[in-house]
Amino acid sequence: MHDMSPSDIQGDYQETTLKYFDGNQRKVLVTDIETPYPEGKLIVSRTDTKGNITHCNRSFIDMSGYEESEIIGQPHALLRHPDMPAAAFEDLWKTVQAGDKWHGYVKNLRKDGGYYWVYATVIPNIRKGQVIGYTSVRRKPSRQKVEEAITTYANMN
Ligand SMILES: Cc1cc2nc3c(=O)[nH]c(=O)nc-3n(C[C@H](O)[C@H](O)[C@H](O)COP(=O)(O)O)c2cc1C
Repeated sequence: MHDMSPSDIQGDYQETTLKYFDGNQRKVLVTDIETPYPEGKLIVSRTDTKGNITHCNRSFIDMSGYEESEIIGQPHALLRHPDMPAAAFEDLWKTVQAGDKWHGYVKNLRKDGGYYWVYATVIPNIRKGQVIGYTSVRRKPSRQKVEEAITTYANMN
């Protein structure tokens, strides 16, 4: 993943270095601009077993602000927002690697430095008894649950 580039950012931003689970780092530029979740849409993506994106739908592309060609093959951590605690994703991975379904509220980072909240359901895709990848389907979260998640995640960080 590349560092984010100031020329892509809309509005005033702050720079942070994100450290990923695998030890890699990336410079991210974040603004306070929220993109509201589109009414009536599902945001869908699929990954391989390592979390690299293999498919995504139109709503995913539109909300992320990236071109499809910039998304496919990238780690899902491309959308990681610095306000998300690492423990939330540790829980996600532990759950789906055990073959179970994970639900949670996620704040995602857009290419333009803004963010959007989702309520995500992540499931393992199983073929012939083997996990061959994962699917995430995201819905519009209630505002109250988002407010609760903001507090919970701020306390975890
Ligand atoms: C199907 C699937 C969907 C995911 N969706 C997101 C997402 O929308 N945003 C996000 O930050 N991480 C998402 N993740 C988690 C990332 O793979 C990653 O664990 C997370 O961004 C934290 O980065 P790190 O584990 O490299 O530290 C998803 C994982 C899977 C398997």
